[in-house]
Amino acid sequence: MSEHETIIVERDGRVGIITLNRPKALNALNTTLMNEVVGAAVDFDNDPDIGAIVITGSEKAFAAGADIKEMSSKSYSDVVGEQFFAAWDDLARLRTPIIASVTGYALGGGCELAMICDILIAGDNAVFGQPEINLGVIPGIGGSQRLTRAVGKAKAMDLILTGRNMKVDEADKLGLVSRVVPKENCLTTAKEVAETIASKSFIAASLAKEAVNRAYESGLGEGIRAERTLFYSTFATDDQTEGMAAFVEKREPKFSHR
Ligand code: CAA
Repeated sequence: MSEHETIIVERDGRVGIITLNRPKALNALNTTLMNEVVGAAVDFDNDPDIGAIVITGSEKAFAAGADIKEMSSKSYSDVVGEQFFAAWDDLARLRTPIIASVTGYALGGGCELAMICDILIAGDNAVFGQPEINLGVIPGIGGSQRLTRAVGKAKAMDLILTGRNMKVDEADKLGLVSRVVPKENCLTTAKEVAETIASKSFIAASLAKEAVNRAYESGLGEGIRAERTLFYSTFATDDQTEGMAAFVEKREPKFSHR
């Protein structure tokens, strides 16, 4: 059972599931929720029995942004002094693949949290946006960087400078989401994707995630060199021996995650 105030934490086989649970505030990301999500995700990341993590919200809202009521009275020295939002960076550093199941609003910090995840499964009612400009601020959990990398400068400028919402069809066309499914099937699909990933060699999955993130975060030459080093390192694992032997012997591999 979950001992948390703002999230529900469950496990299903090798999949860890974190459900944002502040329905009255449309899952607005306050400091308690940030610390609970990041804490639960770090615990899953350190658990050898977990191979993938799903983060989800409610049908109406994945998350409607950072908690405006909590933020409204903060001063410049408050946000700098407490390094407001910095804990979210820890989520982006985890080795375990994270799948977002997004139905309803994913606005501001909600859109940014979804973009921190490695795979984004969207329901057909999902709405994305970075409306911070309407509050006289700008994105603060990586939105200006991740959205620009995901959809390009022209669309990122359009969304961030106007603060308009974008429906899932547009988000899909732009490549912001991995798959769009009927909203009723969103969490099931996210769990299936997580189960598939969790059935692979964890070492290979975490190295593959690191390699893709190098492409996302660096120049081509540096990314190719990093990928080669990571690829070579898989040959030091039992899972590489087992995975290739299983193919040659025409059977399913039994990964030991070593
Ligand atoms: N923070 C705090 N409370 C929020 C919230 C938020 N981001 N979003 C919604 N809520 C609260 C509302 O205040 C309301 O609470 P009360 O019942 O106590 O009044 C409750 O959730 C339900 O919301 P609405 O009545 O507004 O629901 P709606 O269906 O009419 O509208 C919505 C839904 C369009 C998402 C609207 O709630 C909205 O625009 N929310 C704010 C979206 C936003 O600006 N997000 C960006 C926040 S800033 C940010 O995220 C900074 C960053 O980069 C990290």
